[in-house]
Amino acid sequence: MLPKQSPLNLPAKLKAHVQQHSIITRSPGRINLIGEHTDYNEGYVLPAAIDKAAYLSLTPRQDQTIVLHALDLGEVFRVPMGEIKKIPGSWTNYILGVVDQFIQRGIAVPGFEAALVADIPLGAGLSSSAAVECATAMALNEWLATGLDKLTLVKMSQMAEHAYAGVQCGIMDQFASMFGKKDHVIRLDCRSLQYEYVPFLTKGIRIVLMDTQIKHSLASSEYNTRRQQCDLGVSLIRKHHPEVSSLRDVTREMLDEFVLQKDPLIYHRCQYVVEENGRLLEACEDLRKGDLRSFGSKLFVTHEGLSHLYQVSCEELDFLVDHVRNNPSVLGARMMGGGFGGCTLNLVREEAVDELIHSASRAYLDFSGQELKAYMASIEDGTSRIS
Ligand code: GLA
Repeated sequence: MLPKQSPLNLPAKLKAHVQQHSIITRSPGRINLIGEHTDYNEGYVLPAAIDKAAYLSLTPRQDQTIVLHALDLGEVFRVPMGEIKKIPGSWTNYILGVVDQFIQRGIAVPGFEAALVADIPLGAGLSSSAAVECATAMALNEWLATGLDKLTLVKMSQMAEHAYAGVQCGIMDQFASMFGKKDHVIRLDCRSLQYEYVPFLTKGIRIVLMDTQIKHSLASSEYNTRRQQCDLGVSLIRKHHPEVSSLRDVTREMLDEFVLQKDPLIYHRCQYVVEENGRLLEACEDLRKGDLRSFGSKLFVTHEGLSHLYQVSCEELDFLVDHVRNNPSVLGARMMGGGFGGCTLNLVREEAVDELIHSASRAYLDFSGQELKAYMASIEDGTSRIS
């Protein structure tokens, strides 16, 4: 049994669905400071869980039916346990995909009712889907007393995303949601899955997320394409270096020798990943020294790589990063997450936050005709059972 927190902070909408035997879990969204598109290349990432979360209440039923309530959408979905399946584009995938993972492990899942509510902005690249998966995985694990450890729940949540949502994502989002720690970033080695909590002491600095509100439908297909392109780069090098198993093992020299001539596009994709891994390690050194200025400058370099080499940005993200680039109160900024929309992450001096949001909002409205949404993020603990 996990320690229980006070249920007092429960979102009001959820309270109506909570009964005596309900299990309630909370699982946060995530940010990622640096190390983008490196997780599925066995590289490093530096994410953290944030103060915006999904809440799930699970109540056992007497029959073999699953009833799901998406309270924010006002939708209800029912399915007999034996008939669960993925539904393209549906929010139900994030819950049913996890149920399916339990069943695949030979664990019998009886009927239940689940109600879901979240204050993570949807489609903003803050991993609301991973949060729902982890909230579901922990609730089922507690209810069924399966005793699976947190890392197993993370892997099951990731597999749910692959099998039900159709995105061949890496492990970062689910790991960050589950393992997040207040005021720390997680330096995760996605090959060994060893991790270290690095204090993120940002006195006087705020993390500001600027949401383009763009969600390109090509995001998931392009994401899967990037994975394949990285694999192709690895296979070109493996012909000469059989010891290489992922881009983690690849050097710039290998790319120059074996990929550049053959396929310049693949070269650029791989170049970005190889450089990003090195950049992350240096950025961790900056954090250790407390040099946030140097840390922040690397975020801008990452953005350039994501925009020009990896090509997962879009004009709205580029615009927002360009807008803050020469502002001395902004230590660093970049697009964050899978790309093609979502948020930029900005490290901003506290006293300049209001003015920055004001000027960015005005500029973004002129540029795109859309209101900019800005959120402040603080770093909080990961998934927990709250009742
Ligand atoms: C998405 C995926 C993650 C990761 C990022 C890019 O958020 O779910 O696994 O690959 O994109 O860093």
